[in-house]
Amino acid sequence: MNVPLLDLVAQHSAIADEIIPAAMAVIERQGFIMGPEVARLEAAIAALSHVGHAVACASGTDALLLPLRALELEPGDEVICPAFTFFATAGAVHNAGGTPVFADIDPATFNLSPEAVETALTPRTRAIIAVHLYGQMADMERLKALADRHGVVLIEDAAQAIGARRMVGGTWRMAGEIGLAGTLSFFPSKNLGGWGDGGMILTQDAALAQRLARLRLHGGAKQYHHDEVGYNSRLDTLQAAILLVKLRYLAGWSAARRGRAARYGDLLGTLPAVRLPAIDPGAEHIFHQYTIRAERRDDLVAHLRDRGIGCAVYYPVGLHLQPCFADLGYRLGALPETERAMAEVVSLPIFPELSDSQQDAVAGAIREFYQ
Ligand SMILES: Cc1ncc(COP(=O)(O)O)c(C=O)c1O
Repeated sequence: MNVPLLDLVAQHSAIADEIIPAAMAVIERQGFIMGPEVARLEAAIAALSHVGHAVACASGTDALLLPLRALELEPGDEVICPAFTFFATAGAVHNAGGTPVFADIDPATFNLSPEAVETALTPRTRAIIAVHLYGQMADMERLKALADRHGVVLIEDAAQAIGARRMVGGTWRMAGEIGLAGTLSFFPSKNLGGWGDGGMILTQDAALAQRLARLRLHGGAKQYHHDEVGYNSRLDTLQAAILLVKLRYLAGWSAARRGRAARYGDLLGTLPAVRLPAIDPGAEHIFHQYTIRAERRDDLVAHLRDRGIGCAVYYPVGLHLQPCFADLGYRLGALPETERAMAEVVSLPIFPELSDSQQDAVAGAIREFYQ
């Protein structure tokens, strides 16, 4: 049986009756830029994420770039982030004029290790970016305490974690709620994905929200008047209309993903060659990815592909080893846990519409490989 890593056609078929009219309304109105749906989506996601302000923008990458630009980094200013993440996390630091400083991950959760961040802090550190990888929030309690103690800004890259939450100081806190800014991506494969690129910045800070709203419109609050040089980074009205429909389903979809993850636990939990994803106590994972560690990973990947089972390695090369960051001077061995994860992880099919028989086929192919 062929099992795709992600089946967006199944998702679309289930909601086509609602989503096509929502998109058609924008098309018939021919109002594609900054329409009312954008503000409605901002308000809805701000409410979901327990923040006062949300600013939609053109991508999850821009959602990182804009708040980093607002920090007005000087050459040599450092921003600590993981190397075990999608490229945009560190690319945005570079493009905002800062220097990425890579800190290692916690091997259990794949998220930034607070101890490693503490070691990486210097007098030039201006910010820390915590990435909530695969849909599970990083240890925000300790990272926030560290950031506050050292007087640096904390940003949450929540591109993979919309609606995830975590107990912090005895209360549930949402992904993107704690940092000065939290950033979301609506890339089609994300848990809340559009029909193209899109992103959003969450913040409790009204002045920052105003500045971000300016930066996304070429730096001017008033048309043709520019206080600073910004970007063209708007979210299309069409995307906002589509995302508003999908948002109604997000909580159910995330619960279904958690159900599928629990079932993988039943199907694969006894295999010694495989380590299942760890869920932090007090964290509610949204399983954007279901990522295991596997012995002989590359051979397993080849076997799964041969059997028609979709899988992917996120991420095969840490950002500290990317050629474009060679001048930062990192060598193999610099981030041992990142490098171990690069060699061991593989993400399996997980999406709300995944069926029992599809999941059985995935687990069966893995068991067959290790027999
Ligand atoms: C952790 C992380 N950060 C940032 C991004 C960038 O988002 P986008 O692709 O919407 O620019 C992504 C998405 O691919 C991501 O996974």
